[in-house]
Amino acid sequence: MARTDQFRNRAAACEAHDDTLLSPETGETIGDVIARRFNRREMVRGTLGVVAAASLFGPAALAASKARAEASPERFQFKEIEAGVDTTHHVAEGYWCKPLLRWGDALFPDSPAFDPLKQSAASQLKQFGYNNDYVAYFPLDGSSSHGILCVNHEYTNEELMFPALKERQDTTGFKEMTEELVNIEMAAHGVTIVEIARDELEWHVVRDSSYNRRISPLTPMTADGPAAGVDRLKTKDDPSARALMGTLNCAGGSTPWGTYLTAEENFHGYFWTDQRDPECKPAKDLGGGQAVSYQRYGVPGLWQAWGKFHNRFNVDEEPNEPNRFGWIVQIDPFDAKSVPVKHTALGRFCHEGAETVLNSDGRVVVYCGDDTRGEYVYRFVTDGRFDPNDRKANMSLLSEGTLYAARFDADGTGRWLPLKFGVPWLTPEFGFNSQADVVIDARRAGDLLGATRMDRPEDVQPNPVNGKVYINLTNNDKRKADQVDKANPRPENYFGHIIELAPKDGDHASDTFSWEILVQCGNPHDPRGGVDALWNPATSDQGWFSCPDNSCVDDEGRLWIATDQGDNWARTGRADGLYGLETEGTRRRTSKMFFRVPVGAELCGPCFTPDRETLFLAVQHPGADGTEALYGFGLPSTYKRPATRWPDFQEDRPPRPSVVTITKIGGGKIA
Ligand code: FEO
Ligand code: CA
Ligand code: CA
Repeated sequence: MARTDQFRNRAAACEAHDDTLLSPETGETIGDVIARRFNRREMVRGTLGVVAAASLFGPAALAASKARAEASPERFQFKEIEAGVDTTHHVAEGYWCKPLLRWGDALFPDSPAFDPLKQSAASQLKQFGYNNDYVAYFPLDGSSSHGILCVNHEYTNEELMFPALKERQDTTGFKEMTEELVNIEMAAHGVTIVEIARDELEWHVVRDSSYNRRISPLTPMTADGPAAGVDRLKTKDDPSARALMGTLNCAGGSTPWGTYLTAEENFHGYFWTDQRDPECKPAKDLGGGQAVSYQRYGVPGLWQAWGKFHNRFNVDEEPNEPNRFGWIVQIDPFDAKSVPVKHTALGRFCHEGAETVLNSDGRVVVYCGDDTRGEYVYRFVTDGRFDPNDRKANMSLLSEGTLYAARFDADGTGRWLPLKFGVPWLTPEFGFNSQADVVIDARRAGDLLGATRMDRPEDVQPNPVNGKVYINLTNNDKRKADQVDKANPRPENYFGHIIELAPKDGDHASDTFSWEILVQCGNPHDPRGGVDALWNPATSDQGWFSCPDNSCVDDEGRLWIATDQGDNWARTGRADGLYGLETEGTRRRTSKMFFRVPVGAELCGPCFTPDRETLFLAVQHPGADGTEALYGFGLPSTYKRPATRWPDFQEDRPPRPSVVTITKIGGGKIA
């Protein structure tokens, strides 16, 4: 998500609200601890050698580094591409990239053809949505050439979608916004589920498949877990507080029993109020008895004009509707009639993703980041155990379990703090009257338990091969020098970092873990200094990256990182892309660039077929971010004059967010 960067760069009348740190400034300042344990000068500009870096992390790591003193073989077998920025994509030599699903592409036999001049909500609901993010592939009959693809649609770039709009006026949207355009926007959000198949040459959509489905903010859903049915989820239209409608999502996950998890992220931005101060900010006392909760979540965010036309998104009319978003939603891709379930046990916050791992004891563990500056990393452990022979029972595993927030201690260990009603602080005295309150106000529960405020946690990726977990902390330019801690050691962290977490004894359900910083991103040779980049010196000038966002682990346990710099790409002079990042041996911390997006895009959803012969990538918002910095263009992109018309490059077509397939020319495994 890079929309806040767009807002920041406009001549905005109102400040984008997720720029603000909403978590309280509590906890120790441990700059001195860092100074003691890390000689920061050594880390500057990546001059720290691998063995020296390992020695920073204690005797165990030192022993490990000795054991791997012999050079490790390079695990990623591809020739890396050149970093840079231009109007199209680039993939490593010997690979072929083909758009599979573009915004507006037909999904059903009766879908209208894409026509940007004749958009309607009805046609958009039969077409691929906008800003594709998380991608999951579910094989049919175990096949790597025939399956169901699930893709979610995070948000819309109205200035690139609609010919009638000019520039965004402020965070409350566009002057020219109409109800009809709002309805098209809504229809472009949600999820696409579609059957796909590969012939000898390429992948295609099976339009007459009974699996095909579009899910939108209007799709009926249900809820279970502690917050289902409670007063705080009741609305005029739904006194049961279980008949929810629609999803607003970002990344996601998939489960061992073959369901798709979509993670509700920036829901607060969709809510509206007419009670605003002269600077457009919502009045302070909104939400009545929920004012503290509203403020902690930035509700209402006033990013979109939906609440102008739909009371559901106007908190003056429906003060509880924001409590019906911010959850993890489970969808069965094999049953197009199934009702998606919001599992409230996993907590309510700006969920980036929901990556699952099957623990050795059969319990399922879900890792989640809360992607806002200063927010927490979470883990959910199911009460029940996975049964490979009982899919129906597995479908309710996410209904009961324990939610935890992470505390990262200065000595390289950490603890999962249980967010359970009744433990100290999570009691009526502090405003929690039930577990429903705890999950609805998970952020505030994390505050009271002393969770560590992180630099925007995006994907939290378990690696089932080595048992580690990788936490992508994309950036946080608002962290001040006196707010750094060992897990977030940079003030004004424009470039982000990745933390590697090792559960105690390899047990993902353990209450404790150890951790270390895997990489600190950015240019290791930046002459401006102060970057503190940490890479293996074997990383080439093409290979380093900034702002890690989504990631995946392939069948060999290798880590792939997709980046989202937003407007920050101008600081690095290079577009976002996909990188293979070594995590083991002497090549640990070496990164190589495999794929690059066109200007203004971010990359999401890396996903391999089980045979690793196809890689699906989601190119989100091409032509949108930071195009003022593109040499030879120098302007914000608009529908009439976009910085790129990728992927069609036709004069009458705007840029189109697309899922692409990458295959090896001549066939074979990727990389
Ligand atoms: Fe929607 Fe955190 O990216
Ligand atoms: Ca992103
Ligand atoms: Ca993201």
